[in-house]
Amino acid sequence: MVDDVSRILSGDLEDEQDLVIEGSLRPRSLAEYIGQAEVKANLSVLLQAAKARGEASDHILLYGPPGLGKTTLATIVARELGVNVRYTSGPAIERAGDLAAILTSLDERDVLFIDEVHRLNRAVEEILYPAMEDYALDVMIGKGPSARSLRLNLKPFTLVGATTRAGRISSPLRDRFGATYRLDFYTEDELAQIIDRSAEILGVSIDAAATRAIARRGRGTPRIVNRLLKRVRDYAQVHGDGRVHEASAREAMRQLEIDDEGLDSADRKLLAAVVQKFASGPVGVSALAAVLSEETDTIEDVHEPFLLRLGFMDRTPQGRVVTDLGRAHLAALGYEIPPPRRSDGGMPSLWDEPQVPEA
Ligand SMILES: Nc1ncnc2c1ncn2[C@@H]1O[C@H](COP(=O)(O)OP(=O)(O)O)[C@@H](O)[C@H]1O
Ligand SMILES: [Mg+2]
Repeated sequence: MVDDVSRILSGDLEDEQDLVIEGSLRPRSLAEYIGQAEVKANLSVLLQAAKARGEASDHILLYGPPGLGKTTLATIVARELGVNVRYTSGPAIERAGDLAAILTSLDERDVLFIDEVHRLNRAVEEILYPAMEDYALDVMIGKGPSARSLRLNLKPFTLVGATTRAGRISSPLRDRFGATYRLDFYTEDELAQIIDRSAEILGVSIDAAATRAIARRGRGTPRIVNRLLKRVRDYAQVHGDGRVHEASAREAMRQLEIDDEGLDSADRKLLAAVVQKFASGPVGVSALAAVLSEETDTIEDVHEPFLLRLGFMDRTPQGRVVTDLGRAHLAALGYEIPPPRRSDGGMPSLWDEPQVPEA
C-alpha cells in the first residue's frame, strides 16, 4: 500500500479529495460536534445571546493543534447564527486592500473566518483593528503630506480566527477577540464516537474492537482518526471482506508504521534524535530542527504537542527533554538508549514554558 504516512498524521489538508471527504464528515451543528464540552457550552451561550439580541457575536479566537476541529467550529458558528461564512487565511490576504475588499463584501452579521490568523502581515492587521473594534474601515486618500484618512462604516460582522498557538498572535490583535477558546486533544472515548459516526457516513462496517484500536492510535485528533479509518477500510477491502475487524485494523496501521501510542516514524525519529544525539536533552528546537532537517514550526505544531501530552517529552527553560516514559517507549521498540545527561530522572518540570500567555 502506497501512502504517505507523514501526511496521514500531519493534520494538514493537502489534496482536494481529502477536502471533499472532510466536508462530508464535518459535524454541522454544536449538537453533532463531539467532545470539547467546555468550549461548546461557552460558545452556545455566546451565540444564543448574540442571536437573541439580533447582533453580531463577539469575535472568536480558536486555538489548538491541527485537525482538532477549528475550521469545523467556525462553520458551526455561522450556522448557529444563521448567517453566511466567508473563509480565508492569514497568508492568503497579501495586501490591506484585499482585506478591505473582503470586509466590505460581508453581509450584516456574517462570519469571516481567518485561518492561520497569526500569519497576517502588519499592514493587513492594522486594517483589522478598527474593523473589529468599531466595524470601521480607515482608508487613506492621496499620498504624502496631503494624504488624509477617511473612515467608512462596515456592517457588523463576527471574526472567527484560528491558530495553532495563541502565543503567536500579536497582543493588539489578541485583545480584540471577545472570546478565546482552546481546543484540546480528544479522549479515546470521544475519538471512538467520531470514528463510529464517520464509519456510518462512509458506509464502513467496523466492529467495536477495531474502533478502539484506531481511537487509541489517533493522537487525540479527529482528522487523524478519520484518515486512519479510511486507510484501514481500504486494507480490509483488499485483504478481507471489507468489514473492519481488530486484526485487520492493527495490521493496516502496522503497515503505516504507526505504533501502539499512535506515533509515526517522524515522531520516533524526533524522540530518538533527542535521546541519542543530545543525551535525552535539553536541546533547543532549532538544533533539533537542523539535525532532523525539519521546520521548527512542524516540530512545534505537529509533533511536539502530542509527545508532550503523552508525557514522552517535556519542555524546560533549557530546551526539550525526553522523559523516562519516552525512553521506555523507544527501548521497547528496540532503540538503543544512551544514558541521559540529566540527573532528575525526567520528572515533569515545574518550569514548563507556558504554551500560551495569560489571556
Ligand atoms: N468535534 C468533532 N466531532 C466530529 N468530527 C470532528 C470534530 N472536530 C473535527 N472533526 C473532524 O475532523 C476534521 C478536521 O477538523 P478541522 O475543523 O478541519 O480541524 P482544524 O481546522 O482544527 O485543523 C473535520 O473534517 C471533521 O470531520
Ligand atoms: Mg482548519
